[in-house]
Amino acid sequence: MSGALWAQSAPDPTFRISLGQLTAWVADLPPSIAGPILAHPREFLEDYKPLLSLPWDQMVLVDKGHALPETYAPRDLVRLSRYGLYTSRPTEEMRKEIVPVLLEMSRSARKDGVRLKFSSCYRSWAYQRYLFQHYVNEDGLATAERYSARPGQSQHQLGLAADFGSITPEFAKTAEGKWMDAHAEEFGFSLSYPQGLESVTGYMWEPWHFRYIGKEACQVQKKWFGDIQQYLLVFNNEHAKELKASLLKP
Ligand code: DAL
Ligand code: ZN
Repeated sequence: MSGALWAQSAPDPTFRISLGQLTAWVADLPPSIAGPILAHPREFLEDYKPLLSLPWDQMVLVDKGHALPETYAPRDLVRLSRYGLYTSRPTEEMRKEIVPVLLEMSRSARKDGVRLKFSSCYRSWAYQRYLFQHYVNEDGLATAERYSARPGQSQHQLGLAADFGSITPEFAKTAEGKWMDAHAEEFGFSLSYPQGLESVTGYMWEPWHFRYIGKEACQVQKKWFGDIQQYLLVFNNEHAKELKASLLKP
């Protein structure tokens, strides 16, 4: 297949984009991910299209190379305990917008005999600075930065990420950890720091840390990006603008 994808006869020629462009865009991804995208470019773009209209904070890349400003704080933070959610402290907050999802996820877990505990949720830039420094003092910089984000670089600042349960590797073996591993995606929650991917994500395995990106993004992450959030969000960070611009007007 070659040439402009949009020029070919197709069920849904939505994007003005060439296979050459797409090839360049996936060049940095592992072949196991780039291969299927290039083998089925139209299906990939069709699946990707809904992600282009998601709110920016749902897909924004926040990692060691991409920080949120010190001034950024979500406007609709609410205390989860107000809604009957099970939290480590009554002060734990997340964005109000996703409270219905949190309630649905907690109820669903409860039906399976699991009580989801929201252990660490929204963190301000200033609190993250305190926390990172605390870990540096405790463990030294080299170790601390393998598991704790510098201020601005934590997904927790979005109010859309949460640490569940014990916040220890043992969490993976608990009923709660197993439940989240199996079901989080159904509610739009994606595991941010999977096992064996420190060189990709910048952080050690954190089976307890999930970020809300929405159901559609979780599906695209699973189907096209090897179920690795970092690959999806890096691709989105680099190409969402061009993809949006290349969308053909209906
Ligand atoms: N533990 C994660 C990387 C954070 O500090 O946001
Ligand atoms: Zn976390």
